[in-house]
Amino acid sequence: MKIVQVASELYPYMKTGGLADAVGALSAALADNGHEVSAFLPGYRGALDHGDAIGAERKLRLKVEMADQYLSGDVRVFSPRRNLKVYLICREEFFDRGAPYGTGERDYEDNADRFIFFCKAVVEVLRLGDFQADVVHCHDWQAALLPLLLRGAERSHRITLALKTVFTIHNIAYQGLFPAKAFARTNLPDELFHIDGLEYYSQMNLMKGGIMFADRVTTVSPRYAQEIQTPEFGCGLDGVAQTRADDMVGLLNGVDNSVWNPATDALLPARYTAANLAGKLVCRAELLKSCGFAPDFTGPIFGMVCRLTEQKGIDFVLANRDFFLAQDCRLAVLGSGDQRMEQELRELAAEVPKRVSFGAEVNEASSHLIEAGSDFFMMPSVFEPCGLNQMYSQVYGTLPVVSRVGGLFDTVIDADENPATGTGLMCEPNAASLRIALQRALVLFGDKARYAAVQQRAMARDFNWKLAAARYEQLYQDSL
Ligand code: ADP
Ligand code: GLC
Repeated sequence: MKIVQVASELYPYMKTGGLADAVGALSAALADNGHEVSAFLPGYRGALDHGDAIGAERKLRLKVEMADQYLSGDVRVFSPRRNLKVYLICREEFFDRGAPYGTGERDYEDNADRFIFFCKAVVEVLRLGDFQADVVHCHDWQAALLPLLLRGAERSHRITLALKTVFTIHNIAYQGLFPAKAFARTNLPDELFHIDGLEYYSQMNLMKGGIMFADRVTTVSPRYAQEIQTPEFGCGLDGVAQTRADDMVGLLNGVDNSVWNPATDALLPARYTAANLAGKLVCRAELLKSCGFAPDFTGPIFGMVCRLTEQKGIDFVLANRDFFLAQDCRLAVLGSGDQRMEQELRELAAEVPKRVSFGAEVNEASSHLIEAGSDFFMMPSVFEPCGLNQMYSQVYGTLPVVSRVGGLFDTVIDADENPATGTGLMCEPNAASLRIALQRALVLFGDKARYAAVQQRAMARDFNWKLAAARYEQLYQDSL
């Protein structure tokens, strides 16, 4: 098949979270299966730096109509892998910035323009290149306009650009909501700014367009597909999601074994397998050292790596600070984002530096070390469309402590409730329930034989992206 992937993040070109991992691994897996894959993302400064290391094979120029203006852009094309081409859509004014979506505190004011331009540029590349894709697969709000724009361009030029479009919701909490006046920049017909179109309480909602106009809609876990149809998790789009229930399916993400595999992980001080865990102890020792904890500590280490947002349940952890002060355990947190959460974590670490460590940065190597060196990995999310770290941690023999939502629900089995099959511990998304799970973790860690059995089961789980990619292939086939 000829498959186009469109997203605002793609590992390793640009990553702020799991979106990059998911689109990167899916694109690579489809290419390895012999499909002709083209992946589009904005030419951010960091992405261009990464691309320059490979060397662009082609450069195209284009003009994009935005309301009554024409804006020019460049496209650089890279071939990082057989069957995979990466297209960076460049325009310095929009994308030559340090971060993809905004400064730490607020989103860039021109985000509507930036991502409308991005989507329109993708359509232009497909049109000029006479692409005729089988499937154009768009991810999250930044690419959500494409299904509409593609069909519009096909009508006006009497051509076929894509047989089918697929829209994947990675996180319905981010919708691309903009003032009504931004709609003019899409050059779409006025009747689309309507309750059955992009209009949402007098604003323009790009994600709504993706959900309504793609041929198929997917979420990144089966549980999340159900959840977003309820007011509790739908973030105001639950009604819209319900209208597509028949065309919506939840397909679980996977683990990219070329990046997340304890047997080959070059970012670790030592490698290990389920059969020989000696390397995991080396990682543990290195983690204790890098956190400034006593090297001879033998109790459980709780690790946490995430964007600091309300979604990730940081406040449930902070509400349990006395647990980490009183119990014989260690806590290692890596994450950046919300300033208040950063401040509170920093204060906690400063108060008990021998027990709690906090790294307020994005650091790939540290994230691997925490995954490998900890005994438990915490993800008490309020909601979690899929979540990747709870899968990584199982593969790394680090038992996940997660809340019973979204993809966490679909990928972790509670070891107390299921003594024969359990791979982690689960709680409800609140501080009191997390507290009980943390206490259960101490008990489990104290029972060495049981901990080892749960760990072996966790490490035996197969979250390979090949399985995940096969589910997408099937979906593409079915839609065609
Ligand atoms: P989300 O996409 O909601 O952030 P996921 O669990 O799907 O959550 O993916 C998060 C990804 O981002 C993981 O690969 C995780 O290791 C990575 N990550 C998050 N915060 C950091 C950080 N501070 N440093 C390094 N990697 C991080
Ligand atoms: C989003 C979600 C996360 C998911 C990731 C990749 O960032 O928050 O749960 O794993 O997308 O699909």
